[in-house]
Amino acid sequence: MNNTISKIGVFTSGGDAPGMNAALRAVVRASIYYNKEVYGIMQGYEGMIDGDIVKLGARSVGNIIQRGGTILKSARSEEFRTAEGREKAFRNLKKNGIDSLIAIGGDGTFTGLHKFYQEFQIPSICIPGTIDNDLAGTDYTIGYDTATNTAVEAIDKIRDTALSHNRLFFIEVMGRHSGYIAINSAIAGGAVAVIIPEEETSFDALYSLLEEAGKTNRKSSLVVVAEGSRIGGANELARRVAERSDYFDIKTTILGHLQRGGSPTYFDRVLASRMGVGAVEGLLQGINDAMVGVRNGQMVFNQFDDVMGRHHEIDSESLRIAKILSI
Ligand code: F6P
Repeated sequence: MNNTISKIGVFTSGGDAPGMNAALRAVVRASIYYNKEVYGIMQGYEGMIDGDIVKLGARSVGNIIQRGGTILKSARSEEFRTAEGREKAFRNLKKNGIDSLIAIGGDGTFTGLHKFYQEFQIPSICIPGTIDNDLAGTDYTIGYDTATNTAVEAIDKIRDTALSHNRLFFIEVMGRHSGYIAINSAIAGGAVAVIIPEEETSFDALYSLLEEAGKTNRKSSLVVVAEGSRIGGANELARRVAERSDYFDIKTTILGHLQRGGSPTYFDRVLASRMGVGAVEGLLQGINDAMVGVRNGQMVFNQFDDVMGRHHEIDSESLRIAKILSI
């Protein structure tokens, strides 16, 4: 047990994700369980720079496990990218006696935390919270399961209207440079095709597939497009298909930020709870500059250099299954 740690600062940063509140609750309660004080830093690195810091107790995080968003609020801080910004942030932490940090966020959050650790050696651990599931070192990030379920629910609804009108729909899902939400919502939603940045494909290949689908008496078709698609987003693909043929009656839906909200699934709540407790225990065991993860069901700690900059690969099995089932 690391007895030099007595006051833990916790914050959420980057794009919010369902389950961040559950992770915060777990961090706060585990800290108190181990007799440590815990402070919430508002609005990510912005609040650290502005000194917007509040002491939290076990009851401060009551009734939030089921809530989407983050009660600490979040931001993508430009100022924290500057040396002056980080210096200010460090001074505020010192002023409050905060001697260690737990960040809940994605790759940008972890990168900021790493830089801060290098400069000020403040013990710190990141909990992966992003709907994108784009971090190597963990099978799942907090929020990904909920966002994918939200996408599937939307796809199911679109299917009803697509079928009623014999239409072709292009549905764009989030994920930044990752195709995780796309591939799994496409499989679960029964899409005829999925376009993800991880897989080499072409517009011609997509067009042929849609033509073939038309010939097999398919009445309606859904194509799921990851926002990071390298052959164009849903609007562009729809426009190009319409340009080539007037056979298809085409519509587009961009699901957008809808995927970021909502009550977290049981999976995300449990994942967040495990990771929150794990992060506190990791800090107390002397683990630094690391990200907690769950791989093959086991809690792991990944050092920054071992995981950052590495793509979280999509397994070829998922791609294979999506293809087999789309005939
Ligand atoms: O990283 C989460 C995410 O929702 C991505 O999927 C998306 O590309 C991005 O954030 C959108 O960011 P913002 O909410 O800042 O527009």
